[in-house]
Amino acid sequence: MKITSAEFVKSAFEKSHWTTDRLPEIAFLGRSNVGKSSLINSLLLRKGLARTSNTPGRTQSINFFLINRSFYFTDLPGYGYAKVSKTMRADWGKMAEEYLSERAELALCIQLIDSRHNPTALDMQLSEWLKFNDKPHLIVATKADKLSKNELQKSMSAAAKLLETSKIITFSTQTGLGREELWSEINAAMIKT
Ligand code: GTP
Ligand code: MG
Repeated sequence: MKITSAEFVKSAFEKSHWTTDRLPEIAFLGRSNVGKSSLINSLLLRKGLARTSNTPGRTQSINFFLINRSFYFTDLPGYGYAKVSKTMRADWGKMAEEYLSERAELALCIQLIDSRHNPTALDMQLSEWLKFNDKPHLIVATKADKLSKNELQKSMSAAAKLLETSKIITFSTQTGLGREELWSEINAAMIKT
């Protein structure tokens, strides 16, 4: 897809902040530090658009990015960061579940996992929830550049088993691996809605 414009629109801390123009939305989900914001920047070829960081737990709100004036990317806060308080963890669950279950504009949920590790219990819980609730859902494994081809293959077949899926897209912001494939999945999902 040719990106003619990509702009940060707003950070939503509650439902009343969600955008209201009914454009289709692609949501990016995954644990803290898995690479959600980096992947968004990489898809859009815009370096600093979504804020990235080495400190997990950076993104605390749902961030809306308007692409080509015709659809949104939403960057959700990461889950599973051990150091956040119980209240913050409960807030994540509430915010994410409200958004995922109520948002009619949702064309695709892109769930990121770290290619180097087995999916966590929370990864599996989220994936099951998305399946159970019939949400269009796709798994992407990030940081593929950190593994050899062989290690990556092994890791992906283990992850596919645990998540009970036949398809995982491997992605790297460093090499561009997976970028074209992911765009074609996004396009296909938007045509369906
Ligand atoms: P939160 O907002 O805290 O939930 O994190 P996030 O999921 O948005 O992660 P972020 O994009 O901020 O990336 C976390 C770290 O991983 C950063 O240091 C990135 O540079 C690094 N990173 C992300 N994607 C890749 C990748 O494909 N390859 C490599 N080598 N590093 C990556
Ligand atoms: Mg982030």
